[in-house]
Amino acid sequence: MDAAIIFGTGIYLIKGFNGVEKTIETPYGPALVNIGTYEGFELAFLARHGLDHTTPPHKINYRANIKALQILGVKHVLATNAVGSITRVIPPMGLGLLTDFLDFTSGREFTFFDGGNSGLAHTNMDVTYCPVLRKKILDLAPEFDLKIHPEAVYVATNGPRFETPAEIRMYAQLGGDVVGMTGIPEVVLARELGMHYAAVAYSINWAAGLEQEMSFVGDQMADIKQRLTMLLVNTLKAQLDETCGCEQAVMMMHEPVRIS
Ligand code: HPA
Repeated sequence: MDAAIIFGTGIYLIKGFNGVEKTIETPYGPALVNIGTYEGFELAFLARHGLDHTTPPHKINYRANIKALQILGVKHVLATNAVGSITRVIPPMGLGLLTDFLDFTSGREFTFFDGGNSGLAHTNMDVTYCPVLRKKILDLAPEFDLKIHPEAVYVATNGPRFETPAEIRMYAQLGGDVVGMTGIPEVVLARELGMHYAAVAYSINWAAGLEQEMSFVGDQMADIKQRLTMLLVNTLKAQLDETCGCEQAVMMMHEPVRIS
């Protein structure tokens, strides 16, 4: 199975998906993955927070999730991230294609290469999200009546609290466009395993301090989320014949020791 989708807050199913939920055992713990087909196309998906949304951002086992997808043979991963809007260009209900990130998370297991037996590697983040997947998403978006802002810098915070207005002013000055709690280390781990990974952020609120009070529009986005899901499935189904450097992103300094 080559393709997978990782859903964030607010999306828990693919209409028309035929499959079963399976526990995949990994060296980092178990991961719950839905494995099946969409119109005959083999596909896996997982809900980052769990299908019942009980896992907070800082407790998600990102390594188990990405490793489980690798064990299944997945090479292309698309993700959704619910975010708050910092830029006025991607307002609530708007979509942004992630092109870069600022990482303010802490205390998370953020690498497969932790030295010793796990090996040592440096991962090139020059092109952060797969350019071929990104282009395909933008090309297909009009077919699903979706407007996606083509460039967005994702600010990753640790959560589970929201940001303060001063923090959001700082992130704005640093060039952040949207803010969320789950994008990191997911993309980094996927790149460490040489996967092609891209993510679409959908905004459910203005970030703290930008409006009188924070209000959330996630519940009004059912139709957009459904079309976004179909866009992602069809992006993965499409022929991706251009090349990119994702498989070579890892510069291995010391190979992991495989213990069988
Ligand atoms: N901040 C952080 N994470 C979020 C937000 C936000 O405003 N909205 C949705 N996820």
